[in-house]
Amino acid sequence: MSGTPRSRPKGTQDFVPPDSGRMLHVEDVFRRLAELGGYQEIVTPTFEHTDVFVKSSGEDSDIVTKEMYSFKDRGERDLTLRPEGTPGVVRAVIENRLRVPCRLYYVGPFFRYGRPQKGRFREFYQVGVEALGEASPLVDADIIYLGTEFFRSLGISDCTVQVNSIGCRECRPAHREALRKFLLDRKGRLCADCHVRLERNPLRVFDCKVEDCRAAVQDAPTPRQYLCKACERHHEQVLSALSRRGLLHEANDRLVRGLDYYNRTTFEYISASLGAQDSLGGGGRYDYLVGDFGGPDTPGIGVAIGLERTMLAAPVAPAPARRHLAFVVWLTDAELGAAQDLADRLRADGVPVQVDYDARKVKGQFKSADAAQAACCIIIGPDELAKGVYSLKDLATGEQREVSSDAVSEAVRALFRD
Ligand code: HAM
Repeated sequence: MSGTPRSRPKGTQDFVPPDSGRMLHVEDVFRRLAELGGYQEIVTPTFEHTDVFVKSSGEDSDIVTKEMYSFKDRGERDLTLRPEGTPGVVRAVIENRLRVPCRLYYVGPFFRYGRPQKGRFREFYQVGVEALGEASPLVDADIIYLGTEFFRSLGISDCTVQVNSIGCRECRPAHREALRKFLLDRKGRLCADCHVRLERNPLRVFDCKVEDCRAAVQDAPTPRQYLCKACERHHEQVLSALSRRGLLHEANDRLVRGLDYYNRTTFEYISASLGAQDSLGGGGRYDYLVGDFGGPDTPGIGVAIGLERTMLAAPVAPAPARRHLAFVVWLTDAELGAAQDLADRLRADGVPVQVDYDARKVKGQFKSADAAQAACCIIIGPDELAKGVYSLKDLATGEQREVSSDAVSEAVRALFRD
């Protein structure tokens, strides 16, 4: 099946102005919070060897079994467009021998072949942080808090945080066995996928969206009931660090998250305004992942937040009627050089400027200024050139006045409202 060159592929989006600007703003808010927490940006490839995901996200996870964009390149290598960020970051930390503890953040596109719907896309953007080499439960709480600060900064007020612990390699086998027995008794009610999950990784049955399977696990033994002493203590410390900050959180014993690498803390941010795809973001601890990738034993924890869902949940501030942009308007060819010089000078002063070189007539230049939603026009004609001044026209009010060459940057800035 091939699409037309005039339409974008299913499940993808164009971000056109002003939405593209909104998205950048959301990214900037995240970058600032991450940097305040000591995180530095990491940029990893948008595709990796397929095994990077199979060996981490998990062979039985929905992401790996159903949602990966995998392909062979012309050299017969098995590659996959990254469905999530954590495995690539862990691979990069090991490959580049970064010193731990290290705190990293990322912003970028990810790809999952799911059924597109509100808040679910085949290409989507995530912002995320990964802290490697830190085992303290206070780091778990810090990261959970970072996410809530991000949503709060964007005016999202209906976000709740669900927290759980799924234990460690010590306590998990006992839970796994109890769960397997419990599910075997109800095998007839489980879907075909869950029959496989039951044999390979019964915890994954908790992720199943099929109504009968959800009902079947309603009273199933949960990982929390099987936590060893060390995990129980870790979890209590996470919860009390959240409470100390006044961060309201809900316990969700069934929150196992759909990826295999987690241990101990798992958490998710839920927004009631999103409908079926209500998870704004989520994360958890992955103390075994670096070791599983062949690196030195190193604890890790991180979070990723979906930008599209964040933008859906965040209130939209009314876009300013006019952009922070000035248009230099020249009357005759004799002023063209002066127009270019003025544009260069204003840009050097940090004032965004455009000049329409194509419209030979003033009227056409004003039309372009209006189409660009510029805040003002700075007009240079023979009179202005002779007097060494500019005429500054406020496009919102229509008022026009003369400004001296020295005062032009300030005068333009004063017209950039909100
Ligand atoms: P995740 O829960 O798979 O976790 O994804 C995190 C967030 O990405 C989701 O809550 C959602 O907002 C967004 N998201 C996921 N899939 C889609 C989609 N198809 N369309 C739109 N948004 C989507 C992870 O990715 C883990 N790597 C998080 C993590 C980081 N764990 C530890 N460190």
